[in-house]
Amino acid sequence: MGTRTWGEGREGGGQTRWALVLLWLAVAADLPSAWGSSGPRLQQWPVPYRRFEFRPTPDPYCQAQYTFCPTGCPIPVMKDDDVLEVFRLQAPVWEFKYGDLLGHLNIMHDAIGFRNTMTGKNYTMEWYELFQLGNCTFPHLRPEMNAPFWCNQGAACFFEGIDDIHWKENGTLVLIATISGKIFNQMANWVKRDNETGIYYETWTVRASPEKESTTWFESYDCSKFVLRTYEKLAELGAKFKKIETNYTRIFLYSGEPTFVGNETSIFGPAGNKTLATAIKRFYYPFRPHLSVKEFLLSLVQIFDAVLIHRQFYLFYNFEYWFLPMKSPFIKITYEEIPLPNKTLVSKTLGL
Ligand SMILES: *[C@@H]1O[C@H](CO)[C@@H](O)[C@H](O)[C@H]1NC(C)=O
Ligand SMILES: *[C@@H]1O[C@H](CO)[C@@H](O)[C@H](O)[C@H]1NC(C)=O
Ligand SMILES: *[C@@H]1O[C@H](CO)[C@@H](O)[C@H](O)[C@H]1NC(C)=O
Ligand SMILES: *[C@@H]1O[C@H](CO)[C@@H](O)[C@H](O)[C@H]1NC(C)=O
Ligand SMILES: *[C@@H]1O[C@H](CO)[C@@H](O)[C@H](O)[C@H]1NC(C)=O
Ligand SMILES: *[C@@H]1O[C@H](CO)[C@@H](O)[C@H](O)[C@H]1NC(C)=O
Ligand SMILES: *[C@@H]1O[C@H](CO)[C@@H](O)[C@H](O)[C@H]1NC(C)=O
Ligand SMILES: *[C@@H]1O[C@H](CO)[C@@H](O)[C@H](O)[C@H]1NC(C)=O
Repeated sequence: MGTRTWGEGREGGGQTRWALVLLWLAVAADLPSAWGSSGPRLQQWPVPYRRFEFRPTPDPYCQAQYTFCPTGCPIPVMKDDDVLEVFRLQAPVWEFKYGDLLGHLNIMHDAIGFRNTMTGKNYTMEWYELFQLGNCTFPHLRPEMNAPFWCNQGAACFFEGIDDIHWKENGTLVLIATISGKIFNQMANWVKRDNETGIYYETWTVRASPEKESTTWFESYDCSKFVLRTYEKLAELGAKFKKIETNYTRIFLYSGEPTFVGNETSIFGPAGNKTLATAIKRFYYPFRPHLSVKEFLLSLVQIFDAVLIHRQFYLFYNFEYWFLPMKSPFIKITYEEIPLPNKTLVSKTLGL
């Protein structure tokens, strides 16, 4: 089968260095710590991810190094009584470059597979960045523009075929449910709406502490969140899932209660706060793509200084900026279980 996708797997050189920054921070920040819970809040936490009316055309400045969804096709309409198998697909990110190195670190990309048992045709569905992970995580600082510039769209991609070897060899390809064509078609309608209204990628999950009950300030919006939303939707439509362990990669930042600082206009516009605008740009500067190794190493020092020493992080969420008073352990990459839905009965009785 010629069709294959690497999803988040396709990364350029600058992005690779960015990935190393992340891993380095995770290791550097792994210091012992203990602190109490966070204070009172008036704001709704986690901050709800903003939905849009429609997906805008990306700015021509944003140029993908690798075409998004090159073999994508519209989701086919199945016959109501067709029987489809649903597969959990997971493989290490950046696999093409590092083999399963990042798989050992459990940085995984998630997708869903479908096989129509009547026609024998199979399909892959996933959600990923239009311009790669680095571009969704940090902005460009363009000399001709005052505000940081983001190429942070993410979208769903559906194509015919499942590349068994890609998923199986260092990852997972496992049957998790069997659904009817009718459920599949209903799911397809939902995917179209979800894809039009959920337009940007968010790498970070921001929480008050690593403890289970701690407050989540911001939820990520990435490939695994799409898979989880789809499973929930399928369950709501009546799908029954098997009992298997399903773990996912999450990239956490830890901070005290975040402070809203404003949007692009209010910060970087003519009436904006120049001090704040400068502080935000200074924060993002070390995360830019680097030309030389020396420049890159210098940036690592600056990132360490800002995040771990001065405990500052500016998060861009819903196209608005938030200040995070960072806390130890600052950043963590986990691979934890989020169980498959088991709520068919519950959702019926509660009418969810
Ligand atoms: C990130 O965005 C920049 C600006 O459009 C682009 O030049 C670069 O290729 C993008 N990175 C990747 C890995 O696609
Ligand atoms: C799986 O990992 C091995 C060892 O790192 C690597 O050689 C191989 O290419 C990987 N498989 C795929 C399908 O990329
Ligand atoms: C989601 O939106 C993107 C961008 O408009 C588009 O390329 C893609 O085909 C859509 N995916 C699905 C499954 O409709
Ligand atoms: C998907 O279809 C291809 C081509 O027929 C086949 O090689 C592959 O094994 C199928 N995978 C699954 C999981 O059904
Ligand atoms: C779902 O919940 C019911 C009732 O709590 C339980 O009996 C059943 O074993 C659960 N199924 C799975 C797949 O976890
Ligand atoms: C930015 O915030 C201001 C208020 O601070 C508001 O009037 C404006 O509509 C916002 N702009 C956008 C694009 O959300
Ligand atoms: C501008 O932003 C800085 C840093 O957030 C803040 O300390 C200062 O009070 C702000 N100034 C005004 C006039 O809002
Ligand atoms: C999956 O997550 C559970 C708990 O969340 C953990 O106990 C287990 O070791 C994880 N599995 C793998 C393969 O990391």
